[in-house]
Amino acid sequence: MKFFISVLFLFVLFSYAAAYDPLDPNGNVTIKWDIVSWTPDGYVAVVTMNNFQMYRHIMSPGWTLGWTWAKKEVIWSMVGAQTTEQGDCSKFKGNIPHCCKKTPTVVDLLPGVPYNQQFTNCCKGGVLAAWGQDPQSAVSAFQISVGLAGTSNKTVKLPKNFTLLGPGPGYTCGPAKVVPSTTFLTPDRRRKTQALMTWNVTCTYSQFLARKNPNCCVSFSSFYNETITPCPTCACGCQNKNNCVKSDSKFLKMVGLNTPRKDNAPLLQCTHHMCPVRVHWHVKLNYKEYWRVKVSITNFNYRMNYTLWSLVVQHPNLNNVTQVFSFDYKPLVPYESINDTGMFYGMKYYNDLLMEAGPLGNVQSEVLLRKDKDTFTFKQGWAFPRKVYFNGDECMLPPPDTYPFLPNSAHQHLSFTSFTFIAAMFFLFVTLW
Ligand SMILES: *[C@@H]1O[C@H](CO)[C@@H](O)[C@H](O)[C@H]1NC(C)=O
Ligand SMILES: *[C@@H]1O[C@H](CO)[C@@H](O)[C@H](O)[C@H]1NC(C)=O
Ligand SMILES: *[C@@H]1O[C@H](CO)[C@@H](O)[C@H](O)[C@H]1NC(C)=O
Ligand SMILES: *[C@@H]1O[C@H](CO)[C@@H](O)[C@H](O)[C@H]1NC(C)=O
Ligand SMILES: *[C@@H]1O[C@H](CO)[C@@H](O)[C@H](O)[C@H]1NC(C)=O
Ligand SMILES: *[C@@H]1O[C@H](CO)[C@@H](O)[C@H](O)[C@H]1NC(C)=O
Ligand SMILES: *[C@@H]1O[C@H](CO)[C@@H](O)[C@H](O)[C@H]1NC(C)=O
Ligand SMILES: *[C@@H]1O[C@H](CO)[C@@H](O)[C@H](O)[C@H]1NC(C)=O
Repeated sequence: MKFFISVLFLFVLFSYAAAYDPLDPNGNVTIKWDIVSWTPDGYVAVVTMNNFQMYRHIMSPGWTLGWTWAKKEVIWSMVGAQTTEQGDCSKFKGNIPHCCKKTPTVVDLLPGVPYNQQFTNCCKGGVLAAWGQDPQSAVSAFQISVGLAGTSNKTVKLPKNFTLLGPGPGYTCGPAKVVPSTTFLTPDRRRKTQALMTWNVTCTYSQFLARKNPNCCVSFSSFYNETITPCPTCACGCQNKNNCVKSDSKFLKMVGLNTPRKDNAPLLQCTHHMCPVRVHWHVKLNYKEYWRVKVSITNFNYRMNYTLWSLVVQHPNLNNVTQVFSFDYKPLVPYESINDTGMFYGMKYYNDLLMEAGPLGNVQSEVLLRKDKDTFTFKQGWAFPRKVYFNGDECMLPPPDTYPFLPNSAHQHLSFTSFTFIAAMFFLFVTLW
């Protein structure tokens, strides 16, 4: 058992340190610079950011991109984005640059800016949808005109030390790398043009870097046992315990209570788990060839509307999903041979907004699964998910020995533990291999 725990610990450590997500092994955010023209003292580039993560979006208030210039470059102008600070441009006379900082910080513009300040795929307040959810909205772009820079592909120096906040911490960016030049189609689609030079930067996410505690927890119930297995106590850390609001508090009628804070600080409903989000998995019905699960997501944060929310579940029977009611569903197949993971997300204009805490702060769905005769069982907690992610962050599950058990199934605790052990070993194998 000790060996098992240390193996599991090492596995967790490695997967965090390498920013590796076993359910989305190829997920990343790629930032591409295409130089489209040389100027007398530098170049004009189109910078495109693609969110290639299957189920992790960059939510409001949006991305912040930073880098360090290699030489004394300045930004003459930008279209479709802006730097947060101009910096010291005192040595310029007449034409003043947009930004003279050695380490500029760039943010997207808000929707609705005048037409002449817009650029294709800009001005979404920095929100990037997840790739698996809406690939067309998973891209953001702006144009930048750089001065005091190299003026040919031999003399230009790549910016260094890229940083991405999305909107909080969690992303780590690699170095810029020159890649084959991007080709573009002209608007009439009859001619191809080519960037004069292209470089890419790849950024990956690690929940370990993003937050100390989970951001969500999971609770269980079933038709075959009246026990409701709650979220673990203090699943998300209890540091907000002293400023939480009871659900019957008079304070809730105060005007402005729901106004989000600049730093996104939550205002949580008091619960024993102190999580902003809870996912509940209820094993609802048993048919001859099918079984049915009800999934609900509850928001406990009075200061947050979750737009474009996503839920990822890993369960061995997800290879036989027959119908999903009132959520969109997409199987994720992170490894060719394993089809046990899927993502749920809201239907556009129907329930893609998970409202702030309160009577409207929940969304729910039912899932119909076809029993696979070789593996299906209600015993040993098999009917409950192995992993759950909300908005790309892993949620805390209850301890296995508290799952609602099928009455009269002997040795259930012991065999559940060995099941977890086998599952963990299997994952370890897949990860290292
Ligand atoms: C980034 O993600 C894309 C899409 O999944 C993938 O093709 C590419 O190889 C990834 N890049 C890196 C450096 O992992
Ligand atoms: C560079 O990034 C773009 C997306 O912005 C991607 O399509 C392309 O494959 C990347 N190139 C390399 C060599 O990684
Ligand atoms: C630089 O440009 C020249 C022609 O203008 C081209 O032959 C060469 O491949 C380019 N080098 C790089 C690294 O893009
Ligand atoms: C890279 O950026 C980070 C944050 O902006 C900064 O702390 C660090 O010193 C920078 N490193 C270099 C080599 O510029
Ligand atoms: C959430 O959205 C509703 C309706 O659009 C709005 O009235 C409310 O103020 C929003 N709450 C937060 C916390 O942004
Ligand atoms: C994975 O399972 C889904 C059902 O959830 C099915 O539609 C899909 O075809 C399966 N994909 C593979 C590659 O087995
Ligand atoms: C369940 O899914 C697997 C893999 O997609 C398939 O081989 C099997 O026939 C399915 N079982 C049922 C009962 O549909
Ligand atoms: C229901 O599940 C709980 C929690 O695992 C267990 O303690 C209890 O014995 C089960 N009830 C029955 C009737 O088996």
